[in-house]
Amino acid sequence: MDVAVVTGGGTGIGRALCSILAERGMSVLAVGRRAEPLQVLATEFPGRVEPVVADVATPAGRETIASAVGTGRRLRFLVHNAGTIAPIGLLQALTPEALRDHLATNLEGPLFLSQRLLPQLSGGRILHLSSGAAHHAYAGWGPYCMGKAALHMLYQVWREELGDRGIRIGSARPGVVDTPMQALIRATPAREFPGVGRFLRLHQENQLRSPTDVAHFLAWLLLAVDDGRFEAVEWDIGACEDAWRAFAKQERTHQGR
Ligand SMILES: NC(=O)c1ccc[n+]([C@@H]2O[C@H](COP(=O)([O-])OP(=O)(O)OC[C@H]3O[C@@H](n4cnc5c(N)ncnc54)[C@H](OP(=O)(O)O)[C@@H]3O)[C@@H](O)[C@H]2O)c1
Repeated sequence: MDVAVVTGGGTGIGRALCSILAERGMSVLAVGRRAEPLQVLATEFPGRVEPVVADVATPAGRETIASAVGTGRRLRFLVHNAGTIAPIGLLQALTPEALRDHLATNLEGPLFLSQRLLPQLSGGRILHLSSGAAHHAYAGWGPYCMGKAALHMLYQVWREELGDRGIRIGSARPGVVDTPMQALIRATPAREFPGVGRFLRLHQENQLRSPTDVAHFLAWLLLAVDDGRFEAVEWDIGACEDAWRAFAKQERTHQGR
């Protein structure tokens, strides 16, 4: 049986993606550190969504995820969605410990979870959640910008190394999305994040994307885009809007919604 692993599956984009994949009949392992949001999701999709309480930042957490996948199932999709923007603040106040903690989730997690799951991933796809912050510097987002820039390079290096194994790797930018991460950004004082005003304005003007729209974009990438295109470029949600919206519409028509 085919399964998908979605890290950070209890909230935001990850939760919405788990729901869409489960609605399409896939078995989904939803990963996170807090049991409660994962349990709520699993209750909505009995037998389809399996909660996996694990920390992607630790070797023990990654072992827990690998055990949950098991050996009798093929891992079709591994989506590295778990991420954090903390700590927000200027580099002058950053400690080595805080940087290491950040990178343990946003960089080591995806790298070493992919590495651990390679044997189960033959013929499957890995997807990274990237950000505009991988390509543009924001004062106050030092760890996040550095981590996402490194994640972008990780996607490119994996792409060079994994072709022969029949594993495809993609990277996607979801835009500014209405999730707990954005709430944390808006709650940060300007002395720690000088650019906060733009995010407050986007929220006031209802300009944030919904997690469900982003999940349709990611599901389109995973299910409808062919192997070569999937990994050729980092996909920006705004640059292929017509295609993923048409895919989402077909799906709703198919389900009679
Ligand atoms: N929201 C945006 O505007 C935006 C924009 C660009 C990119 N992204 C990216 O999209 C992804 C999802 O973001 P989101 O906005 O949906 O965030 P979110 O709602 O804040 O969700 C983050 C999720 O990751 C989980 N998580 C965090 N650290 C973890 C760890 N060490 N191990 C396992 N799970 C962990 C959290 O659950 P627990 O706390 O229970 O572990 C939570 O469910 C992130 O990679 C983010 O960088 C978001």
